[in-house]
Amino acid sequence: MAAEGFPFLLSYDPHMTWSAWLAEIGRQRLGTDLPVDQVRSAILAADVDGELVGRVSVRFTLNDWLAREGGHIGYAVLPAHRRRGHATAMLHRAVALARDGGATPLLVVCDDDNVGSATVIERCGGVLEGRAMTDRGTTIRRYWI
Ligand SMILES: CC(C)(COP(=O)(O)OP(=O)(O)OC[C@H]1O[C@@H](n2cnc3c(N)ncnc32)[C@H](O)[C@@H]1OP(=O)(O)O)[C@@H](O)C(=O)NCCC(=O)NCCS
Repeated sequence: MAAEGFPFLLSYDPHMTWSAWLAEIGRQRLGTDLPVDQVRSAILAADVDGELVGRVSVRFTLNDWLAREGGHIGYAVLPAHRRRGHATAMLHRAVALARDGGATPLLVVCDDDNVGSATVIERCGGVLEGRAMTDRGTTIRRYWI
């Protein structure tokens, strides 16, 4: 499932049952039997009155790729629910969870032209370190919270 090319259900494969996906993200949260290139992570769903509006994922440590361009936290809000403060609330919650899990300071990145995401990060205290080129040749902003 993707929102504008942005993966929504991380680690989901359409051939998976729902319970298999839940087991997979549970394993990732505990950090058990992770492939060498994967770090311990958590995914949280955001809902309003039981309706899914977004998701946020927290990586508790950084591998090489995350340190370059993935960062500790990634999020997406479903299109129908945008501009209501959900991403800002989700990032606040994710920052608290990441810190509880021992991750600090936190690297949060966004595409240079993603004004919405940059505003969300800045509203959550992000300090711009600078811009960097990704492996795909695009420019990202690197923030620390
Ligand atoms: C970027 C994204 C997460 C923002 O989610 P959101 O819930 O709409 O964000 P918020 O409501 O918390 O926005 C906070 C502020 O950011 C700014 N903002 C958000 N979206 C914006 C947009 N499309 N254009 C300009 N400013 C925007 C606004 O100033 C907004 O405050 P306001 O509505 O009071 O003016 C959402 O558009 C999304 O999921 N996009 C696709 C996936 C993505 O880009 N994820 C981030 C990857 S780094």
